[in-house]
This record gives sequence, structure tokens and C-alpha cells, in this order.
Amino acid sequence: MGRRDPPVPIIAATEGSAADRFARSRAWHERASRVLAAGVSSQFRAFGVFHPMHYVRAEGARMWDADGNELLDYTLAQGPCILGHSHPELVSRVQAAVARAQLFAGQHEEEVLLAEALQRLIPCAELLRFASSGSEAAQACIRLARAVTGRQRILKFDGHYHGWLDSVAFNVAPPGNAAGDAPVPWCAGIAESAAADVICLPWNDLDAVRRTMARHGDEIAAIITEPVMCNQGCIEPLPGFLAGLREICDAHGSALIFDEIITGFRIALGGAQAQYGVTPDLALFGKALGAGFPLAAVAGRARWMAPLQAGTTYHAGTMNGNNACVAAGLATVELLERDDHAALRRIARLGAALRDGLAERGTAHGLALRVQGPGPMFHMAFSCLPRATEYRHVAADDRAAYQSFCRGMLLEGVRLIERGLWYVSAAHTEADVAATLAAADRVLAAIAAGRGT
Ligand SMILES: Cc1ncc(COP(=O)(O)O)c(C=O)c1O
Repeated sequence: MGRRDPPVPIIAATEGSAADRFARSRAWHERASRVLAAGVSSQFRAFGVFHPMHYVRAEGARMWDADGNELLDYTLAQGPCILGHSHPELVSRVQAAVARAQLFAGQHEEEVLLAEALQRLIPCAELLRFASSGSEAAQACIRLARAVTGRQRILKFDGHYHGWLDSVAFNVAPPGNAAGDAPVPWCAGIAESAAADVICLPWNDLDAVRRTMARHGDEIAAIITEPVMCNQGCIEPLPGFLAGLREICDAHGSALIFDEIITGFRIALGGAQAQYGVTPDLALFGKALGAGFPLAAVAGRARWMAPLQAGTTYHAGTMNGNNACVAAGLATVELLERDDHAALRRIARLGAALRDGLAERGTAHGLALRVQGPGPMFHMAFSCLPRATEYRHVAADDRAAYQSFCRGMLLEGVRLIERGLWYVSAAHTEADVAATLAAADRVLAAIAAGRGT
């Protein structure tokens, strides 16, 4: 069957017997809401399918919630758990490290070993610094770019997310028609003054970047980009786009920063820069690097890391390089490198099978689905547009329809990210993929028949 326009009809979710399967989770959420703002510790966790869920255990590709439901997990804690949950070797390596000491706040052997491994793997990593979160690593990169160039402004792209801090919290998910105009703050409370230092442009549009840099290049300290636009649509760069950014930055003396928080240690061990063959000046890594432990890294060319080397600019953090996280990073690199990167090849193969299988089932049910992305991660949306190349395409997706799909999948025992991004881990199996596609088939059939949850 062909694609259908307009998108699928949706029946709104109601608090009925389906949601009752998560009653204990709901009770915990109500209790949590009396002590934790919105009942959560990160705003991204506030958007549950029925309500934010509470969990008690996770192992391999599965999680168990407070009601005892077993869930096949494609969120992987928003990406980090690339080895699956509670990988025994990872856990025992972390336990051994913590048994020696939890935090020296001084240098230690494993920190150097991890930095050496990353230097070997990541093309731009002439020097590194460890941090605890991607948000701070992004700030460190921007500070370095400003310190080297003496310029203030940064250029970022619509729909790209570089952490929750003010300097980058513009045009993260602007209303579709606002993208490309004045920077739109992500939420209330963001410093108005920060907007003056940011220029936002549509992604994958080299001409727009060239035009803007021709006018403002001598004010731009850095162009920062996710090398794959993972946070909205999982859109790969058009041929020549990343290389074009490289040339433009060279021509204007601006830093090219790759935000590899999602692509790093997932698309390739050396990140998207190794995969696409374009080396940035600075890059930030996190998520999969620590496989679920709070570890991030700034990696950069010596020239762009020089202010840290010279001590003319600062990057700090009490928790940086802590033993548990560094041990997790070392174990992750070793496990992912094992057998000539077998785990990453397997993740890519299973992810591609899942991505293509979902698209096929959408077509079979006559639904307008777009399933797009490199494979180790991909994005699914209800949309008449078969391929997205920039944020505006994604902003037009039918999000209510995807919510309905997520609800149906949760009731089938599959946990998904409601924004449409799917992550596959080394713990997923062919059988998991087959079971997931069978579940998706049932849910899509119900949606196509107007029986969505
Ligand atoms: C591309 C990207 N950059 C930066 C961040 C921020 O990382 P963290 O949540 O560790 O602060 C994220 C988080 O989702 C991300 O997806």
C-alpha cells in the first residue's frame, strides 16, 4: 500500500485499565512530585507516555518497572547504555576501581590510560580533558574557541541540542516557522543577553552558512554542530556539508566544534569525525563513553586546547576524572574494541534491521512513516515527508501519532523515547528485533484501523 495523507487518525489515551498496569509507578510519581520538582531530576524525564515511570532493575536490554513489568528497552537511558544495562564486566571493573578509592581529585593511572586510548581513536584528540556531563563539555569547547579567537559569538543550528546551559539554549526546538529568525530561547529564565552571542541557522544548508559567515565571520568564535542531527530526526549530513563547514571555519579562523555526545562511541569509536572523514578543531564526547556513568570528554587539536595547557583559560570540576567513571570509560573502550569492534558492528546491523523493518511495516499498513538514521540510532516519525534534511521537516511531524505508537509499544512491553529516537545496544539480540517488529506490527495495525491507544 502507498503512503497516506493526511497522517493517521489517533484516539487519545485515557486513564483506563491499560494505564493501571503502571499504577505503582504512578503512585511513586505522585509521591516524588511532593519532593522533586515535577517529580523528576531531569526535565526530559517529565514526559512519560502515561506518566513518568519508576524503575527497580535493569539488565541487558531489559528493565523492570515498579509494577514488575518487564520492558525491552530502546531508550538506553537516553543513549549511554551502549553495552546494555549492568554489563557484568563493566560493573565489576567499576566496583574494583571504587574499592581502591572513589575520588582522588588528583591524577591517576586509569585516567591517563583512558586519555591515551581516546587520543588513539579520536582524530581531533591531540589533547583531552575529562568532565562529568556533556553540557559542561560543550561550555568548555566554546570557552576555548573564544579564548583562542578573541571573538564572542557562536553559530549553531536549528534543532541541535548542546546541553541545558544558557549559551547554547536557543532554537533547540523552536516553533517550525520561527526557525531561522531571531534565536528562540529553549525555555523561560534563559539570559536574554546570551541571545546576542548566538546565530542560529538551518542545518545542511551550506549556502546559508557561507552567507552568514561572509557578514559575521570575524565575530564568530565557533560553529558548533551535532555531526549527525540526532536530537531532531536523526538526520545525517548531506554529502559535503561537514567538509564545507570545515572549509568555512578555516577560511574565517573560527573553530569547528563537533558535538559527539550521541555519535561518539556509537556510530564509530572515533565518532562521526572518523566515520565521515572530517576532523573538527574541538569535540565533546559523553553518553556512550561512560556507558551509564557520568563521564564526558573534551578533545581537541593542540592549538585549540592551548589556553588550557597555558593556564590562560580554565575548565574545572570537583568530580572530573573520578575513579568509577574513568574505570567505566576504560572498560567501555576495551569492550567495544574487542574482536575488531564486533559490538559496534552488531549494533549497526541490528539497528538497520529494526529501522528497515519498521519502515516496511508502516508501508504495509498504509501509514505515512519516516524512519531515518544511520542504524546504531535512528528516528521514527509519522510524517508524509519520506526524508528530512533539516529541523523544519521534523517540526512538521505528527507527534500525537507517535505518542500513540509509544503507548501501544509500552503496553506491548517495549520502552521507547517519545521524541522518536531509538538506540540499540550490544545486549539486543536478533530475537529482540523480531519481537519488537512483531509488536510494532500489531500497534501500527491498530493505529491504521483507528484503534490507537
Ligand atoms: C548532542 C548532545 N549534546 C549535549 C548533550 C548534553 O549532555 P548531558 O545531558 O550529559 O549534559 C546532549 C544530551 O542529551 C546531547 O544529546
